[in-house]
Amino acid sequence: MSQASNRHRELVKEIRKLDQAYYQEAQPLISDQEYDQLYRELLDLEAAHPDLRTPDSPSQRVGGEPLSHFTSVPHALPMQSLDNTYSASELESFVDRIQKSLEGEKLGFVIEPKIDGVAVSVRYEHGKFIQGLTRGDGQKGDDITANLRTIKNLPLEIKSKAPVLEVRGEVYYPQAAFDKLNRQREAAGEATFANPRNAAAGTLKQLDSRLVAKRPLSIVLYGPGELRGVECATQQEWLELVAKIGLPVPERTWFCETKAELLNAIEDLDQARKGFSYATDGAVVKLNEWRLRNALGATSKAPRWAIAYKYSAEKAVTTLDNVSFQVGRTGVITPVAELKPVLLAGTTVARATLHNFEEIKRKDIRLGDHVTIEKAGEIIPAVLGAVTEARTGAEKVIEPPKACPACETELGWDGIFLRCPNPSCPAQTQRKIQHFAQRGAMDIDGMGEALVEQLVEAGLAKDPADLYQLTEEKLLTLERMAEKSARNVLAGIEASKQADLWRLIFGLGILHVGAGSARALANHFGSLEEIEKATEEDLLKIRDVGDVVAQSIVTWFAREENRELLHRLRTAGVNTKAQQVAVRADGTNLAGKTFVLTGTLSEPRENVKERILAAGGKVSGSVSKKTNYVVAGENAGSKLEDAQRLGVTVLTEAEFAELAKD
Ligand code: IVH
Repeated sequence: MSQASNRHRELVKEIRKLDQAYYQEAQPLISDQEYDQLYRELLDLEAAHPDLRTPDSPSQRVGGEPLSHFTSVPHALPMQSLDNTYSASELESFVDRIQKSLEGEKLGFVIEPKIDGVAVSVRYEHGKFIQGLTRGDGQKGDDITANLRTIKNLPLEIKSKAPVLEVRGEVYYPQAAFDKLNRQREAAGEATFANPRNAAAGTLKQLDSRLVAKRPLSIVLYGPGELRGVECATQQEWLELVAKIGLPVPERTWFCETKAELLNAIEDLDQARKGFSYATDGAVVKLNEWRLRNALGATSKAPRWAIAYKYSAEKAVTTLDNVSFQVGRTGVITPVAELKPVLLAGTTVARATLHNFEEIKRKDIRLGDHVTIEKAGEIIPAVLGAVTEARTGAEKVIEPPKACPACETELGWDGIFLRCPNPSCPAQTQRKIQHFAQRGAMDIDGMGEALVEQLVEAGLAKDPADLYQLTEEKLLTLERMAEKSARNVLAGIEASKQADLWRLIFGLGILHVGAGSARALANHFGSLEEIEKATEEDLLKIRDVGDVVAQSIVTWFAREENRELLHRLRTAGVNTKAQQVAVRADGTNLAGKTFVLTGTLSEPRENVKERILAAGGKVSGSVSKKTNYVVAGENAGSKLEDAQRLGVTVLTEAEFAELAKD
């Protein structure tokens, strides 16, 4: 045994040294093959002598048994957020404010990259990594120790024996690896992540650390948490200390004493950040001296001694070839820029919103202009402004149209919005019906954009209720409509009569009522009839419903034509009751249904799975159109998003329990 434990000690020491060189210093000391051999020897040794497998062994990076849920743990010190600014003058005011509060003190600032990752706190006691938490609500976070252990550049042991050394930082998905991940997911038909931050957050939410170990997450640390037995007086000293004990810190930071130096550093960082392996969306300006920080203190949300300066999103310049006018569901006309296609943030952009005519005027954007466009994350590209220096004189002022492009009715102004006042405008009708039938709402199979357009053009559908009056005969009058497709469309329409109430509410297109509020309304009131009766006061009792939404709902239900629409939907047999009731009544229960479980459930996932299987249901690992229900616990991540995207019914645990009742 002592021979085994000696060899184990040697191997652990050697592998740690190699890991440090590879992951922290990017200086591999031996070939991958040689490393794999040593690593395999370690695993074999631990398999033969399980007592040697301590939590800080490098073997533990591969992850352990899945957890049933994350435990919520209070932070030793709260994890605060930062105040943000996009403006240099606000940054200068920040410095002035501090100088005023700390009269007579000489100030110094450290500028660090603002890493666009997931905030975490890692805790070492007597040199050993013992716990890692997410930020959570700032007071308490989820214990993600097992997941953090798998992050290769996070040492499980540091070169400091301080009784408590807590460090805060960001877990991130390295840019290059992220691109590869999304390409693979796309090829496999899986949902792609919106951005690297989203991928890091989704990965850290996994309860199975073995899956986390397969993803190349990385960490960078910059802030102090609870410290015992650590002497330190400034941010500069702190970053030096953190690096010295073997932890990864931001690759570049700046020290500044004046406002001018500060603005220079921020510009420098803007250039440098392109070479960082993590996405950097800004600069964090921190007062260097901790003594002065303490003197300034914090507001309830953020410290007074730091501020985040955010860089604007990625931009490109191209020409504005044309402007088209889109008629929305409510008749609002949106000017859309038709651009010379240009590559921006990884995608080709040929159209961008111009928002409204007020904006066009304010920005003085003209046809033929060179324009700057911007895209931040998944947001639709927008035109920021014209490059006036590039004008030739041939550019033309963009005039608002006088008549609706769809129905030629004279347009009218509604505040800053230009609106088509014709309630039977075909473009509005088409958008209303499309919204009603879409996957996320009534989910009518076969009712795509092209068919809706044909139906509206042929005068067969003037509102969503008309869909329920369609017959095979009527459908067959449409061009290119064969009997088989007509029957399929009718089957889709028939099936939608059973859709859950929230889908109907969302599908009605009430201003400000998204899928989330529609669910909340359905859950709270149980039936459309009860919602119709509700006053603003009743509506405000729902957590997700505020003043604006409540008012919009009451106004919608008060209008005669909407009451008439509901009457026709009801007469056609469209379900107006929330599903929990409907399901219990017809006793469908779990048999034959496919479930996907996601997030943290209050009981072990295996138990829930067994119950479903025992009742004749199926449990699948990923969400598809075939999934009947997604049971979402706390912290549900990408599967919940998938469900929402595909319009799959999402149940809370309580709703599931109700459904599973005999
Ligand atoms: S300091 C009490 N430094 O940005 C001050 N935060 O938008 C704590 N972040 O909550 C934050 N890079 O999660 C600090 N170099 C950096 C940072 C950074 C990214 C995150 C952090 C913070 C958020 C605020």
